[in-house]
Amino acid sequence: MKSAVSMDTIVNLAKRRGFVFAGSEIYGGLANSWDYGPLGVELKNNIKQAWWKKFVTSRLDMVGIDGALIMNPKVWEASGHVATFTDPLVECKSCHERYRSDQIDVAKPCQKCGNKGTFTEPAAFNLMLKTFLGPKEDATAAAYMRPETAQAMFVDFNQVLTSSRKRVPFGIAQIGHAFRNEITPGNFIFRTREFDIMEFEYFVHVNEWEKHFAYWLEQMHEWIAECGIDAEKSHDLEVSAEDRAHYSKRTVDIEFDFPFGRKELYGLAYRGDFDLKNHSQHSGKELVYTDPITNEKYIPHVIEPTFGLDRTFLAVLLSAYDEEMGEDGEKRVVLRLKPHLAPVKVAILPLMKKEELVHIAKPLAEKLAKNFAVEYDETQSIGKRYRRQDEIGTPYCVTVDYDSLEDKAVTVRERDSMKQERISLEKLPEYLKERVG
Ligand code: GAP
Repeated sequence: MKSAVSMDTIVNLAKRRGFVFAGSEIYGGLANSWDYGPLGVELKNNIKQAWWKKFVTSRLDMVGIDGALIMNPKVWEASGHVATFTDPLVECKSCHERYRSDQIDVAKPCQKCGNKGTFTEPAAFNLMLKTFLGPKEDATAAAYMRPETAQAMFVDFNQVLTSSRKRVPFGIAQIGHAFRNEITPGNFIFRTREFDIMEFEYFVHVNEWEKHFAYWLEQMHEWIAECGIDAEKSHDLEVSAEDRAHYSKRTVDIEFDFPFGRKELYGLAYRGDFDLKNHSQHSGKELVYTDPITNEKYIPHVIEPTFGLDRTFLAVLLSAYDEEMGEDGEKRVVLRLKPHLAPVKVAILPLMKKEELVHIAKPLAEKLAKNFAVEYDETQSIGKRYRRQDEIGTPYCVTVDYDSLEDKAVTVRERDSMKQERISLEKLPEYLKERVG
């Protein structure tokens, strides 16, 4: 069995190998702001692509959109976010540190200054990030950075329905940035003030919501398995009525055992007709569906599976991380990433930095890079180079050696088993395509 991995280990690996590092670092950073580096952006893009393929392009009942990050402020009044998208905030009267009152014990001393019994009464703190559009900084120019991607899928409902000619049940999907003025961000990329959400609104007839809810919960678990996220560490939580978001009639959270505790990874909500009904009322535009067979006119109900991209990224890294003792007695760190998610699919390594080997290896890397994410590395010993690739999860290493000059073949080493095979240069692209897509 794999030993538990600590957050420090993952954060260090992420920084050292260029997955994720602190943003604005040369200016001392900005608390809880993170940049995805060269490997991180590849892993993130691969997750997005896999999600889009599974839930959008490979289905006939789903279409995607890419909505604006800043919407008409009236959207957030109709959606209930202005009134209710809040967390309970308390402030230490002594040092003025602010906390979420549902995350601390207010009977205990302040974690920062140690004074006891000094907290203010909880007050509702709205999490939406405000900005101003144009040169005026007054109420007429105020706008919000979107706190969820969902609303564009509701307000664009008529546009999408008319242009795509979909019939209920069908879904509208989106991947994009969201902003929340979190009171207590932290735990690396788990809770930040800007993050990506992958989610869709699936429109159904009210009589069928339970069937669709059960189906999408199953699909979410299938996705978790496909990403290589540890299923044993994933748990369904039926969210109680008082803990549900203001729009939800039923929510199941999928939680994950992170090193800092069991926390929300994904959510599945039954939003009823809350959003389409409210936007119809507030905008004066009917957001309804007419069944072309029965002529029944109704407001579709909504099932919403939502997936935090950054939390997916973190759960994928934590699940893939493994350490073992190599045959040489040295520790081998290996990211057992699913090949379709691995940022680098194949590493091309000349056995030594010698002209005749480089002469074959470099053009081979350039040729393969047209179809696969390739890394070319001619520095250090071959053992060290294998270890570097293991640590970033590269599924295949290809070594060009002196025999290659004669037999026109290379040695292919598989990451997890470390088994090596001799494959002809001619067959190599096909060999890799079958294994890494
Ligand atoms: N449209 C529904 C919605 O936005 P949510 O549970 O508030 O639901 C969706 O957020 C997902 O976004 C969560 O399940 C979580 O994975 C992720 N998420 C929420 N807040 C986050 C934050 N501050 N930092 C990173 N990810 C976050």
